[in-house]
Amino acid sequence: MKFFVDTANLEQIKDAAVMGIMDGVTTNPSLMAKEGITGKDNILNHYKAICALVDGDVSAEVISTDFDGIVAEGKVLAALHPNIVVKVPMIEEGIKAIRWFTDNGIRTNCTLVFSAGQAILAAKAGATYLSPFIGRVDDSGWDGMQLIEQIANIYAIQDFRTEILAASIRNPLHIVKAAENGADVVTCPLSAIKGLLKHPLTDIGLAKFLEDAKKL
Ligand code: E4P
Repeated sequence: MKFFVDTANLEQIKDAAVMGIMDGVTTNPSLMAKEGITGKDNILNHYKAICALVDGDVSAEVISTDFDGIVAEGKVLAALHPNIVVKVPMIEEGIKAIRWFTDNGIRTNCTLVFSAGQAILAAKAGATYLSPFIGRVDDSGWDGMQLIEQIANIYAIQDFRTEILAASIRNPLHIVKAAENGADVVTCPLSAIKGLLKHPLTDIGLAKFLEDAKKL
């Protein structure tokens, strides 16, 4: 399973790169706004800066919602760097655009996915990645992991090649469960990835080893 970091923060991306476990980055307009990136040129330059730090795919999201606008934006984003994946919302115009991008050799990440039906449509259009938002599904009282499992089963039965990118990950358990339920990729805040490190018995055991090492 691949690990993407879900951030537009360059320091966090550098931190994840140093750990040696980062396979890519996902961004969205909210994450870009959080970093205070405004204006078209600054946004495009920020994507380039992210690509310079990442040896892997970087999802850059369009903000248009009509076919022509999505395609025009996506072409500009894809031309920034070979690792850019154009992130397109799960709407009818988005599905048309994903088909266009697929037919024209531009890779895509279909975002804002909340149902198996949407997952089937995105795969039919040839999306490279599919982003089911499991945290937001959980927030609304449904089971995000059940959705991952259902999509993974459908994709396996139908031999769809779209990779399942579990998004809206909130904690380390989400990562473990996404792995268990067949996600190809998880995209998460660095805090959730670092949360995987933690176990009290590791801390207790290490303290004891270090104490005993003084006797050597
Ligand atoms: C990633 O592609 C998504 O944009 C992101 O994971 C959404 O996460 P959130 O629900 O925590 O905003």
